[in-house]
Amino acid sequence: MSTLHDESTNSSCNHNQGNGAAHSPCSHHKEHGESRAHHERPLQQVKNIIAIASGKGGVGKSTFAVNLAISLAQTGAKVGLIDADLYGPSIPTMFGLLDAKPEVAGKNLVPLEKFGVKLMSIGFLIDIDTAVIWRGPMASSAIKQFISEVDWQELDYLIFDLPPGTGDIQLTIAQTIPLTGAVIVTTPQDVAIADVSKALSMFRKVNVPVLGLVENMSYYELPDGTKDYIFGNQGGEIFARTQGVAFLGSIPIDRAIREGGDNGTPCILSKPDSATSKAIKQAATEVARQVSITNTRQAAELS
Ligand SMILES: Nc1ncnc2c1ncn2[C@@H]1O[C@H](COP(=O)(O)OP(=O)(O)O)[C@@H](O)[C@H]1O
Ligand SMILES: [Mg+2]
Repeated sequence: MSTLHDESTNSSCNHNQGNGAAHSPCSHHKEHGESRAHHERPLQQVKNIIAIASGKGGVGKSTFAVNLAISLAQTGAKVGLIDADLYGPSIPTMFGLLDAKPEVAGKNLVPLEKFGVKLMSIGFLIDIDTAVIWRGPMASSAIKQFISEVDWQELDYLIFDLPPGTGDIQLTIAQTIPLTGAVIVTTPQDVAIADVSKALSMFRKVNVPVLGLVENMSYYELPDGTKDYIFGNQGGEIFARTQGVAFLGSIPIDRAIREGGDNGTPCILSKPDSATSKAIKQAATEVARQVSITNTRQAAELS
């Protein structure tokens, strides 16, 4: 990677065409007669690109992104995961790859691979304790290099673990990458949900389909089997319904999730049969289903 040089973002055109759908230039480029070659779709060999987003931090975005990626890989899909949280990368820790460095092949970086998932994170390139103090354009440029200068090869799913909120990095990704759709992660409290509205409206403004909403930290299961809804009951599900987006599932609060995140073996691998892991796998299946629905709808709209 050519040292993450500074370069401004300049795309105002969302090439939002997932699943390898036939790429056509967007209308304003047609009008201006720009060549198709100028606007080659990035990540040609990637069928579906999914962004995992949230209104605020600490809601379990990275946790869900990691477990989703592994769940999809377990179904036989080819999966890549980009840690787009440049200011707080979690992927190296969550995959137990704190000291790993990617190899270089020609001009490109070779993604690391673990648990069947190809990975790229700023944490593999610079010391994870070094504060990243880049301004927006430089951060956007780093993300673009994760896309164009990493040898992803063929993938069924490429997942972006986004930073919290609706800043430069999220906008760069939403506007320059042909996202199939975004998955929003929230906790049930109202505060988190107020922020979620902002994330939803950002994706809607840039015409990225919202695949659905995952509610994390939904409840804590007590030893007698009863559920304690610590952060309120069904906030995410009710919110999803009122916003007209699919509800993808509820994931409980579970020490195994936190431990799996910290020790580098995600809980769906360390405790595959737990209720928590089953809830995560069910949400992953639902994400895949929503991807198919979205692709079918877009193909119909294009034809
Ligand atoms: N359902 C859960 N149960 C227990 N701990 C969780 C759960 N979801 C996330 N965590 C923990 O909460 C912390 C924040 O999660 P993380 O995925 O890093 O959030 P985000 O990426 O949204 O900032 C991590 O330590 C993670 O292990
Ligand atoms: Mg994170």
